[in-house]
Amino acid sequence: MKLVYSGKTKDVFALEDGNYLLKFKDDVTGTDGVFDPGANTVGLTLEGAGRAGLRLTKFFFEALGQKGIPTHYIDANPEAATMTVKPATVFGKGLEVICRYRAVGSFLRRYGMYAAEGQSLDAFVEVTLKDDDREDPPITKDALAMLGLLSAEEYEVLKALTQQIGNIVKEELAKKNIELYDIKFEFGRIGADKQIALIDEISGGNMRAFKDGKYIEPLVLEKLMLEG
Ligand SMILES: Nc1ncnc2c1ncn2[C@@H]1O[C@H](COP(=O)(O)OP(=O)(O)O)[C@@H](O)[C@H]1O
Ligand SMILES: [Mg+2]
Repeated sequence: MKLVYSGKTKDVFALEDGNYLLKFKDDVTGTDGVFDPGANTVGLTLEGAGRAGLRLTKFFFEALGQKGIPTHYIDANPEAATMTVKPATVFGKGLEVICRYRAVGSFLRRYGMYAAEGQSLDAFVEVTLKDDDREDPPITKDALAMLGLLSAEEYEVLKALTQQIGNIVKEELAKKNIELYDIKFEFGRIGADKQIALIDEISGGNMRAFKDGKYIEPLVLEKLMLEG
């Protein structure tokens, strides 16, 4: 097994059969010990966060697979906090795609002149570049095409998949009386036909979720979703 990438919250290994193994770490993004799904730094280490993140990721990717949504998922080992996936090529050096249901976080920081905090958004999709040095700048459909990262047709596929997946996660959370405010995904091209598919993870660290108006920490979210 060869380490191909060590990220903020996961290590990526190449398996002999050509697939990848994602190892979920106990590191969580944030600043100064406070969790923030939008942060570009590891803010804190929480015992059990890796295993909890993997378990929730497994739950969502299996649900998506049952609905025929293309993803990189093959299988998962909850005890080891690892997941076997199909290798993908990302767009440029990677994009993040955000689906928003309420105006919070960076959306509110940018558009606060016109948006009220917590205002409803209808599965609003935004794409950002994974570029730590430039603080993950948002990028438009036109800029993605112009810079050769994503064609206009591929953008529409990406957007539709994002809304479909966001809505599935939102519905699963709603079953536990939890409200999804926003969620962040990664996509890549998989296989010989370069199909656009969901990659990476779907865990508490990728979303903002609230219950009875109160924010739910990733580890608590994973408990609420997977127990009882
Ligand atoms: N199926 C896949 N193929 C290739 N790369 C992947 C796949 N799934 C996830 N990745 C990449 O692996 C890395 C996972 O590690 P992570 O700690 O989340 O990294 P980061 O610090 O970039 O967020 C990410 O860069 C993600 O884009
Ligand atoms: Mg990541």
